Amino acid sequence: METSVVPDIANVVEKWKDKKGNLIMILHEIQNQYGYVPREISFQLSKLLDVPLARIYEVLTFYNYFKLKPPGKYTVSVCMGTACYLKGAPELLEELHHILGIKEGETTKDGMFQLEIVRCLGCCGLAPVVKIGNKIYGGLKRSDIVNLLSQYSKEGAPVAQPV
Ligand code: FES
Repeated sequence: METSVVPDIANVVEKWKDKKGNLIMILHEIQNQYGYVPREISFQLSKLLDVPLARIYEVLTFYNYFKLKPPGKYTVSVCMGTACYLKGAPELLEELHHILGIKEGETTKDGMFQLEIVRCLGCCGLAPVVKIGNKIYGGLKRSDIVNLLSQYSKEGAPVAQPV
């Protein structure tokens, strides 16, 4: 079935069409816009750029940066930098695996949480640190995780305050 090209995509392609390394730049712009690179957009790009779809997926899967699935509503970033690691971050991560049922880079089925590992969030004095959305929580223990997650409602804004 023929689908119409999203105008924004046509503009992005037009902007980069004649430039070197354009495929990566176009994919970057798309990911910035959508938070990931939707499959249907890859199809459209393949046609617009006359590049095989396999080549587009080769690039998308080569770079960890690109995401093929929509991001979760909240990104849960566990700091595994040295200070956090030594103060128990691995246990926090284990608990998050257990409660959310996902591994790093995955999103929960309900689309609420996406789990990531990061290296130092710049607040080592609060170690171990977990960031949810744009809020930082420090001095966490394994037993804090369940309460922390439960404070994020399905409807919207978290009611938790940063520790
Ligand atoms: S090591 Fe975790 S915030 Fe620096």
